[in-house]
Amino acid sequence: MLRSNWLKALCLQSLLWLPVASQISPVATSNPQYQQLPPLREGAALKDEWTQSRIDAIPKLLQKYGVDAWLMSQKEYGEDTVFWSVKSATQFSARRRTVTLYLANATAGTPSAYNWIDNTPVVWTELLAVLEAQNPASIAMNINSDIAFSDGLHAGQLNAVVMNLGEKWSKRIVTEPMIGVEFIATMPKAQLGWYKKLQETAWAMITDGFSERVITPGETTTTDVEWWLREAILGWNYTTWFQTDVEVVAPGGEPGAPQDERPIQYGDLLHVDFGVTALGMNTDTQHLAYVLYPGETEADIPQGFLDGLKKANRLQDIVKENMKVGMSGNTILDICLKQMRSEGIEGRVYSHPIGDWGHSAGTLVGMTNLQDGVPVLGDIPLLSHMYYSVELYAEHFVPERNATMNFYLEEDIYWVDEETGWDWAYGRQDRYHLIKTPVKEGMVVQEL
Ligand SMILES: *[C@@H]1O[C@H](CO)[C@@H](O)[C@H](O)[C@H]1NC(C)=O
Ligand SMILES: *[C@@H]1O[C@H](CO)[C@@H](O)[C@H](O)[C@H]1NC(C)=O
Ligand SMILES: *[C@@H]1O[C@H](CO)[C@@H](O)[C@H](O)[C@H]1NC(C)=O
Repeated sequence: MLRSNWLKALCLQSLLWLPVASQISPVATSNPQYQQLPPLREGAALKDEWTQSRIDAIPKLLQKYGVDAWLMSQKEYGEDTVFWSVKSATQFSARRRTVTLYLANATAGTPSAYNWIDNTPVVWTELLAVLEAQNPASIAMNINSDIAFSDGLHAGQLNAVVMNLGEKWSKRIVTEPMIGVEFIATMPKAQLGWYKKLQETAWAMITDGFSERVITPGETTTTDVEWWLREAILGWNYTTWFQTDVEVVAPGGEPGAPQDERPIQYGDLLHVDFGVTALGMNTDTQHLAYVLYPGETEADIPQGFLDGLKKANRLQDIVKENMKVGMSGNTILDICLKQMRSEGIEGRVYSHPIGDWGHSAGTLVGMTNLQDGVPVLGDIPLLSHMYYSVELYAEHFVPERNATMNFYLEEDIYWVDEETGWDWAYGRQDRYHLIKTPVKEGMVVQEL
């Protein structure tokens, strides 16, 4: 069924704005504020503090997986994936040959972490001396075939290590993918305050981008909004990890449908996929907006859209509640989809870890095209102390559009403790962002 009260607004003259109380009212979800980043020097000190606490935890991590040593070897611009999580804030790449060794059980009075930056064979002599003194029975290297976070050793570096360490030590090389995964996934509690600020900033940018301050129906395209958001990121000295995506949600639209280049119109349902990066952390948020007809208020949002959002919110709850630490992502996915269907909801779940990387280390709960389980990454257990992005959509038949539409939402959560489980890093969208157009004097509103 089409909108029965389809309005067409013809702006004959743009004269006076009519100040109507309802036009000044409500913000979509809350009132998120832009959070200014600390000066670079302060930010670097913060990051180094966080990194050090993670490095200090490595011996325990190695003990957990029963491995005696963890070895990385890398060249400038040929870094191990783990390098980006252990480097200091003022390091921009590995240099010369950068060799890092961590020990699970360093003998009393000796360090458990070693770092060489060298372009002479001395690095091998010294590494061999440490190995002889510490005698690790197993040496983990990042050579897993399936998980990028545990596969950072370049093939040439493996040759160099094998050649220079000799058979005695090469025979002790093992792969334990969960070491790289858990190291990168674990987010120290001290980072949470800033992670929340990053989220709030992302929300503030979306709230502005999805408003009449940026969108003029009939003129502004989705691409215009994408670039407005990219400029907002730059203006606030943040960066990002993927190109912002704004689209008009089409009936029956599949995720990743081609961009709609037409100007945004009254009555459009808008969707944004947006992330910011700062202080070594990443966010990932998907929100929805509704473009009101001139003079309309929040009370005029089609009921079908409100119900669709509510369904997607329910699916978010289902996923968040079922994320049990220790369970595999595939088990969680299975439980979530069963519960979803038992509650009469159709949709898809494709949630992922976030933190040091946008799609960070840890188990996956579905992928858009893999709703029966994800090989390898879906089989590993969900870890605690991490950030996670609850990403999904619910389908809903919208009578006002006579079509089934997808309601896409994504919010980041963090692990609180065993008792509480997970909580939203900033919040979750349960009201539409609104693009409002006041009725202007001289504007002829026609009923079609
Ligand atoms: C709604 O859509 C169905 C299927 O596309 C179509 O058969 C029907 O005529 C439509 N109804 C209205 C009122 O447009
Ligand atoms: C390290 O030392 C602890 C305590 O002695 C021991 O239980 C453990 O097996 C050793 N090795 C590893 C890899 O944890
Ligand atoms: C961005 O960085 C510049 C240069 O340090 C600074 O002048 C400006 O105030 C910063 N902007 C914000 C919004 O923090």
